[in-house]
Amino acid sequence: MAEIKILMAKENVKNSHQIDVALANGAYSNLEKAFKMKSVEITEEVKKSGLRGRGGAGFPAGIKWSFMPTGDRKKKPNYVVINADESEPGTFKDRWILERDPHLLIEGIVITSYAVESNTAYVYIRGEYVKQAKILQKAIDEAYEKGFLGKNILGSGFDLELTLHRGAGAYVCGEETALLESLEGKRGYPRIKPPYFPAAIGLFHCPTLVNNVETISNVPWILENGGEEFAKIGKPNNTGTKLLCVSGHVNFPGVYEVPLGINLLTLLETYCGGIRSRNKLKAVIPGGSSMPVLKAEECNVEMDFDSLKKAGTGLGSGAVIVMDETTCMVDVSLNLLKFYAHESCGQCTPCREGMPWMKRMVQRIKDGNGRPEDIPLILNVADYVGGDIDFSRGKLGKTICALGEAGSWPTIALLNKFREEFEYFCNNGKSMINRDKSIKTPENAVPEVVAT
Ligand SMILES: Cc1cc2nc3c(=O)[nH]c(=O)nc-3n(C[C@H](O)[C@H](O)[C@H](O)COP(=O)(O)O)c2cc1C
Repeated sequence: MAEIKILMAKENVKNSHQIDVALANGAYSNLEKAFKMKSVEITEEVKKSGLRGRGGAGFPAGIKWSFMPTGDRKKKPNYVVINADESEPGTFKDRWILERDPHLLIEGIVITSYAVESNTAYVYIRGEYVKQAKILQKAIDEAYEKGFLGKNILGSGFDLELTLHRGAGAYVCGEETALLESLEGKRGYPRIKPPYFPAAIGLFHCPTLVNNVETISNVPWILENGGEEFAKIGKPNNTGTKLLCVSGHVNFPGVYEVPLGINLLTLLETYCGGIRSRNKLKAVIPGGSSMPVLKAEECNVEMDFDSLKKAGTGLGSGAVIVMDETTCMVDVSLNLLKFYAHESCGQCTPCREGMPWMKRMVQRIKDGNGRPEDIPLILNVADYVGGDIDFSRGKLGKTICALGEAGSWPTIALLNKFREEFEYFCNNGKSMINRDKSIKTPENAVPEVVAT
């Protein structure tokens, strides 16, 4: 099957972010079709496509849209909010769309807003994306000038005001209810669900649809080609393509658009040019830093929501972090915990206290002062903060938002799967990983794996 590019179709088009170039390459061509349809028909098409949210949880987009009160059920203004916070470590795939094809996103926002009967939409972009915010703002201005935004779009009678809002650099503001608080001008504390499910009580206490940048950028293609065509790409229940952003120890890191269900080892070999310096693969975090790590021998797995869940991890934000044999897993754990301890918003005690506690213990191990009993203690604290992804260690949901889980899932997986490295550090005061890979010891040798 020929490679299908839905999101990166303009990959080889120079200046694809400029409106004239975008228009010459088909941008906004689906608006007229959308305005001839009833809003509910568009939602039906998205349902048929099987499109699942690309922001992390993989919730079916069409079903989420249908929660929005429309027609006689609509009593208050509806809002559409696009999540461009993209703060999960390793994740830089929305950035590609924002920089290279902002008009695809805007077209998706107009169609989505029409479908859920919203006349006001926001894009919430992470504070660090200064360049991307400039590009997107220019694209929004251009879209207003050409009549794709504003009053009576293309004579349809449909109005849409789109505002770009810059965040202030907090990871938790990617969580949809913290995002809404921040958008309202308040401190970004997540809200309790229930009752604060955005479709019921969202922005300014009105029904609000929150979707990720990549999710919404699929909408023009679905409208043009039909939901059934979209559903033919990828795998059942895991339809469409996915932007995977690969970082770490591969020869060609970058953003790749692939059908959902591609084998992880094929991705690394065929797209990313294999592991750097002919080193051996040691481990991969397949879906952003909050997902449990896979050992090399577990990497013969398909990259989709269901297969990764079955493998005890998740597709998350589509960030593939690759580690070769020179990587010390104590370092990895400390690096992640520093991030989560810093980014905990402090609202929930288990997360606020537990993340820095785990960080301090791993730091102690790294400094050569670890005690063997630190390992079960870290696991115990992780149970109290978030529990394990497969419920094997304590129940999930001890914090208002999933940041608690986001910090404890990778910690538990690293400690369980690479326990010997933590123990070695505690017993010997140094890493068992020899960074000079020419000196191989039986301890740091990892098996070679190939895709089947
Ligand atoms: C701590 C935390 C951070 C999150 N960060 C992001 C983010 O940066 N971008 C994003 O789209 N979703 C993020 N999410 C998920 C959102 O809460 C929400 O599920 C998503 O925006 C819904 O869009 P989707 O259905 O299109 O995936 C985060 C969730 C949590 C718990």
